[in-house]
Amino acid sequence: MLVEVIDTYELMSQRAAEIVAEQVHRKPTSVIGFATGSTPKRLYELLIQEHDERGLDFSKVTTFNLDEYVGLPPKHDQSYHYYMWENLFNHIDVNPSNVHIPHGMADDIDHFCAWYEEQIEAAGGIDLQILGIGANGHLAFNEPGSSLGSRTRIKTLTEKTVKDNARFFDDPDMVPEYAITMGIGTIMEADRLLLVASGERKAQAIRNTLEGPVTAMCPATIVQLHQHSHIIIDKDAATALDYRHHHGIAEPKE
Ligand code: GLP
Repeated sequence: MLVEVIDTYELMSQRAAEIVAEQVHRKPTSVIGFATGSTPKRLYELLIQEHDERGLDFSKVTTFNLDEYVGLPPKHDQSYHYYMWENLFNHIDVNPSNVHIPHGMADDIDHFCAWYEEQIEAAGGIDLQILGIGANGHLAFNEPGSSLGSRTRIKTLTEKTVKDNARFFDDPDMVPEYAITMGIGTIMEADRLLLVASGERKAQAIRNTLEGPVTAMCPATIVQLHQHSHIIIDKDAATALDYRHHHGIAEPKE
């Protein structure tokens, strides 16, 4: 587990963008796992800039997104389909047939989830999986209590997550209660994990993730067991860490 604490959200995003760009340069046919949420937004802007200004080529890249709300059509402005196309895919040269995002309107969700897993396998597995973290320690939509061996499936969102995500919806009552999410077991099979977190709102979840015991009650703690997990956080997200000196933060913890 490699932890980097970086001064600001901007610098954290630049560092994450470097890692993704390096992966795509090194292996143009990379399979990249994408995350949504507000945290990776700047990272995606920087990847678009790399594409525009330095020709970073996504034409042979295959993508798999972590999750999607059940019941939101792809055109809904809060769906993760919409998010990915608006914030990244429409602005780079990714081949739409190489893009995979869970389908929140699937008729047979179990069947869809099994198919999604097969597609990941058929693509040769995920080379680099980008991850955010929920304030309650969720990874993708694997809420506290999710099996650490879980595969892609439907999950009920916790009240905390529904509340946290309500800020993005015009009507807070419209936040879906269910989501399709890659499982923890699915995420752990990626060759490399890149987790980004920013802001004090994430400080406790980051502390539990990096310094707490591995537990299903904080699914993100599983990154401790991955051989190639890279955690990039800004200073504010590092405020609760006991070992932040070790990660390059100078001020002592009160
Ligand atoms: C959602 C997503 C997660 C994401 C998390 C954090 O619940 N399903 O994949 O990591 O939110 O989002 P934010 O970056 O907006 O705090």
